[in-house]
Amino acid sequence: MRILVTGATGNVGRLVVDELLAAGASEVRALTTDPVRAALPPEVEVVEGYLGRVETLPRAFEGVDRMYLARLTRTVREVTELAREAGVTRIVDLAGTAGSWWYDVEKAVEHSGIPWTHLEAGEFMTNTTIWADQIRSRGEVREAYPRAANAPIALEDIAAVAAKALLEDGHEGAAYGLTGPEMLTRAELVAQIGKALGREIPLVEVSHADALADLTETMGADAAAWYLDGCAEMAEHPQPVSPTVSRVLGRPGMRFAEWAVAHASLFR
Ligand SMILES: NC(=O)c1ccc[n+]([C@@H]2O[C@H](COP(=O)([O-])OP(=O)(O)OC[C@H]3O[C@@H](n4cnc5c(N)ncnc54)[C@H](OP(=O)(O)O)[C@@H]3O)[C@@H](O)[C@H]2O)c1
Repeated sequence: MRILVTGATGNVGRLVVDELLAAGASEVRALTTDPVRAALPPEVEVVEGYLGRVETLPRAFEGVDRMYLARLTRTVREVTELAREAGVTRIVDLAGTAGSWWYDVEKAVEHSGIPWTHLEAGEFMTNTTIWADQIRSRGEVREAYPRAANAPIALEDIAAVAAKALLEDGHEGAAYGLTGPEMLTRAELVAQIGKALGREIPLVEVSHADALADLTETMGADAAAWYLDGCAEMAEHPQPVSPTVSRVLGRPGMRFAEWAVAHASLFR
């Protein structure tokens, strides 16, 4: 059974490759624009291409049974049609529900008629790296919504669920809402990063406008506005934990405290 991982050097796709290999998958193919730079493990078959350049896909899809589909809305209709023509029999996509930026991925996958599993991941733990510059330069975090709460997820867990859905039966037709194992406020996330670094990181509450100005420097204006609007919403309506990761993996998802220790170098 040949499995194609698209976006194979991306933050999620690269981990999906590792999870598939660890689970013993023997025919893993990876799609990348630059096979040399990608430096994928030697047991992976590397194919040059990109979801955004659909002319590269017929060759990449040849002989593929199952596919991890990275998020790219612009070409997803053509991508899924080409996958159907090539005989792909299962798609596991990183998508999003109606109203999200990535809903077009789910719509196109379902429209193709190929059996699917949607992974609807909530906020990634890696998003907390937006504070890394402030922690390094000022030793503090300026936040507008310290009580905003949700259950961020580790990329490692998204990839592990993706690999299960690619390799095991019984996940077809499921739209998995994926979160981490505990609901935490922004203030608790900052405190956990401080613990991982071995020092207290003061959280300074600032206005929405001041936080926007700070974050625009690191994220750009659109992403900063999107992030802060999301925090304002979470302050009013905290996002609860979904049990799906532990149900699918048979173990709890990674806790933020563990993640912060494992990735402390991102904040140093
Ligand atoms: N929910 C959240 O909190 C959250 C947080 C951060 C990100 N996200 C989203 O989660 C998704 C997963 O992220 P990901 O890092 O795994 O990325 P991805 O979009 O799944 O894949 C990125 C890969 O696509 C390939 N690529 C080729 N040409 C590209 C181009 N012109 N532009 C961009 N990528 C190109 C690159 O690999 P090659 O160069 O090897 O081809 C790159 O490594 C993204 O859609 C991201 O926006 C969500």
